[in-house]
Amino acid sequence: MPRVSFPHRVGHIFLVFAVRKAIIVGYTSCPPNSIPQPLLSLLTMRVIILPSSTEVSQRAAKFIARQVERKPTSVLGLATGSTPLGTYRELIKLHEAGHFDCSQTTTFNLDEYVGLSPDHGQSYSFFMRENLFKYLNIDLARCHVPDGLAEDFESYCVSYEQEIQKAGGIDLQLLGLGSDGHIAFNEPTSSLASRTRLKALTQQTRLDNARFFDSLAEVPTLAVTMGIGTILEARNILLLACGAKKASAVRSMIEGPISSFVPASALQLHANVTVILDEPAAGWLIKRDYYLACEQVQQGLEKGPHSSISWE
Ligand code: F6R
Repeated sequence: MPRVSFPHRVGHIFLVFAVRKAIIVGYTSCPPNSIPQPLLSLLTMRVIILPSSTEVSQRAAKFIARQVERKPTSVLGLATGSTPLGTYRELIKLHEAGHFDCSQTTTFNLDEYVGLSPDHGQSYSFFMRENLFKYLNIDLARCHVPDGLAEDFESYCVSYEQEIQKAGGIDLQLLGLGSDGHIAFNEPTSSLASRTRLKALTQQTRLDNARFFDSLAEVPTLAVTMGIGTILEARNILLLACGAKKASAVRSMIEGPISSFVPASALQLHANVTVILDEPAAGWLIKRDYYLACEQVQQGLEKGPHSSISWE
């Protein structure tokens, strides 16, 4: 075996520490105004399990409203699909009650079907207008949904990323979870470093989403989507999952190995992720009781005399 000389070994040790420090600092540095790091969850996901999907929506809406209250100019990353619908309804209620003012907020949606115009009833642009934007005091000029009809997707995708950067980056990214473990439309085997691009939808995703269309044949085969690398750059991430159909993906995301086969497992690399689940979605978690116990301790710490954080 070749021997490594002493100065070389010292060099290796310094290199390992420098790389580790760079990774930790890169993922944990939180600019001012972002939601503070939960006390117990440093470098892990915070997993909150609630009895029902209604409570998931209420909790998620408060989480988002609090971000905007702390930083009115927040940049929010938004999702579509059935999961965030309840959260959007709760946000509208908060807005009507005077607790959610998004007049200075900017939004970027995760994805859009390729081939659907913003006026198509199943486009994500239409979904956002009909289910959220039109009820809020948000400036539509600051609401971005990827263009499913772009002429040149290569340059369009680069420009979408640039728009996010110009806005200062995403403060809080809301995510749903596909039953195959996808986030946005990053299907299994997506690169964990991927950026906004076109992605072919899996048959599973097309079948899952066929419920919104008249037939499976009408479900587009391509989408334009933020990449996993794009999502991991958000300062805070809030993922919601409800229902037994998501239980397997939830388990792989939180407790499985990090793998491009389960795109959501990449969230384990991010230092500020909160996952809110209803009981059925949490049904396969091996450490379910531990997460419940952690949450109790977390709540206690946050209510403690030295804490400046209050989540409830
Ligand atoms: C939609 C999106 C998708 C959905 C996922 C779950 O913008 O990014 O990843 O979050 O397909 O969809 P639902 O909530 O309909 O189960």
